[in-house]
Amino acid sequence: MSDKKKVLVFRELPDDQLARLIAVHDVTVANPRIAAQKAAFDAALPGAQGLIGSSYPIDSAVLARAPKLEVVSSVSVGVDNYELAALHARGILLCHTPGVLTETVADTVFALLMATSRRVVELANLVREGRWNKNIGPELFGRDVHGKTLGILGFGRIGQALARRAALGFGMPVLYHARRPVDLAAQAPELAGRAQHASFADLLARSDIVVAMLPLSESTRGLMNADAFAQMKPGSIFINGGRGATVREDALLAALDSGHLHAAGLDVFATEPLPLDSPLRTHPRVTALPHIGSATHETRHGMAVLATSNLLQALAGERPAATYDTGAGA
Ligand code: DGY
Repeated sequence: MSDKKKVLVFRELPDDQLARLIAVHDVTVANPRIAAQKAAFDAALPGAQGLIGSSYPIDSAVLARAPKLEVVSSVSVGVDNYELAALHARGILLCHTPGVLTETVADTVFALLMATSRRVVELANLVREGRWNKNIGPELFGRDVHGKTLGILGFGRIGQALARRAALGFGMPVLYHARRPVDLAAQAPELAGRAQHASFADLLARSDIVVAMLPLSESTRGLMNADAFAQMKPGSIFINGGRGATVREDALLAALDSGHLHAAGLDVFATEPLPLDSPLRTHPRVTALPHIGSATHETRHGMAVLATSNLLQALAGERPAATYDTGAGA
């Protein structure tokens, strides 16, 4: 009997990783977000034993049309596109890509931190548009980054990588808020004495720059609301590198427009791609990126390799390198 299984690739994979799948399994590539490929996706779903891709909600409606599904391998670390309870109830394995993107996402977030503080995009545009006709004055000065207090909401791998950049590279005192304090002496000794656990309220009140690196769950949805922004220091900066829906975007805009917040740097949004009519797109004090946290050649390839390995291992009945515990609750 053939061990070939039916695999549905729902977002394009690099050729070398697609080849690894095709060598072993019966593979269909169909991205349901592309209108011309939706019918092929719908046709392949009922027979699919393995799914691999990202950026498409795999919810109970999709799962109901995939009765043979054994494993979903996400080419992402975040799992908010997957209905965890429904996967758990069906005993479908969920794999993801932690670790391989940590340093790259931390680089992106640090770039937003620098760009917002030093007005990099705004001032680069001034040069590009031929408006640099005299030395700039205080109205265009930025703010120092080094030495400022950085508050990080969510202190997983990426939060800790960000803390290393801030504390070791820029001499920034770091506060973090997580469900439980991290044993830094054991897990990240280079941060011991440099990063301190703080309550949510304390972190907001004491930080010059607040970075949200939160996964999306029922407990984090809308966490950064009007009340939270009001608790931030006047003139502080807010950065979001986690998930857009952890922020009430109307409340963020109000905090910027009232002058309470100095600037915001955003890589993620409640709706992606960001709708054309979103005021965040053109706000003068918002630096907005198109969800590029992990988007380098090296890292996106590394994520594809890990996701492909996860899928191949799962379909071979082996334990994949990176599974997500769908039963752990949000
Ligand atoms: C992830 O892997 O969850 C990232 O958001 C993708 O860039």
